[in-house]
Amino acid sequence: MRAEADEARILDAWQANAPAWERAVREERIESRRLVTDQAIVDAVLARSPRTVIDVGCGEGWLARALAAQGVQVIGVDVVPALVESARAKGGGAFRVLSYEDIAAGALRERADIVVCNFSLLGGASVDALLAAVPGLLAPGGRLIVQTVHPLMAAEPYADGWREGSWIGCGEGFGEAAPWYFRTLGGWVSAFERAGLGLRDLVEPLHPHTGRPASVIFIAGARQGNGDEQASRRSVSRHRT
Ligand SMILES: C[S@@+](CC[C@H](N)C(=O)[O-])C[C@H]1O[C@@H](n2cnc3c(N)ncnc32)[C@H](O)[C@@H]1O
Repeated sequence: MRAEADEARILDAWQANAPAWERAVREERIESRRLVTDQAIVDAVLARSPRTVIDVGCGEGWLARALAAQGVQVIGVDVVPALVESARAKGGGAFRVLSYEDIAAGALRERADIVVCNFSLLGGASVDALLAAVPGLLAPGGRLIVQTVHPLMAAEPYADGWREGSWIGCGEGFGEAAPWYFRTLGGWVSAFERAGLGLRDLVEPLHPHTGRPASVIFIAGARQGNGDEQASRRSVSRHRT
């Protein structure tokens, strides 16, 4: 099946390109990150004054380090051992090698005030499975914060589906690019809804040179009957025993 092959290509590409990615991030080679999106995601997370954050698809860990510098306790997870190793070496959080499939299967037992995904939700079914696990990772009142490509900036057609990827704008040293699963704004909202998450806010950081959106940030919370309620039931039963 094409979709399964595309999911596998995402993982292969990130394994193969981990060193180049680490350089691109550490040397701040990606202009939109440098000018807009890094600060936008840090601001979106810190605006909620979290004590704890789970950084899903944390890469080499820059966001965990930025949040830790503000006193936030961070768990970072990523499927690529080399990236997790390099995150650990720089510190700023507790880092683990886990895939979204592992998380969907219950491998992450912790809960946090914020689950953040910074340009890390790239697949189709793998992302849907991860999202379904998110209500169970959120502390009561917690939020999922997702920064991703703004649909306005992606190639047509305007419909959910797989697209070929590219490393344009990331600098040199990259090999084969991975495909990614494009979602319209409505596609994202439906994916959150299917996972028991309701959209609470949407931010569109603008690129200062072009005046066009550099990304979109979704802020979602567990709907009643999902993570919030389960978590409060659990903490109530802990108090009773
Ligand atoms: C574009 S990078 C973003 C990394 C980091 N969040 C940042 O802001 O620099 C995408 C990350 O998602 C991770 N990733 C993609 N699919 C994954 C999966 N199925 N399970 C775990 N991590 C995954 C990749 O290994 C990669 O580190």
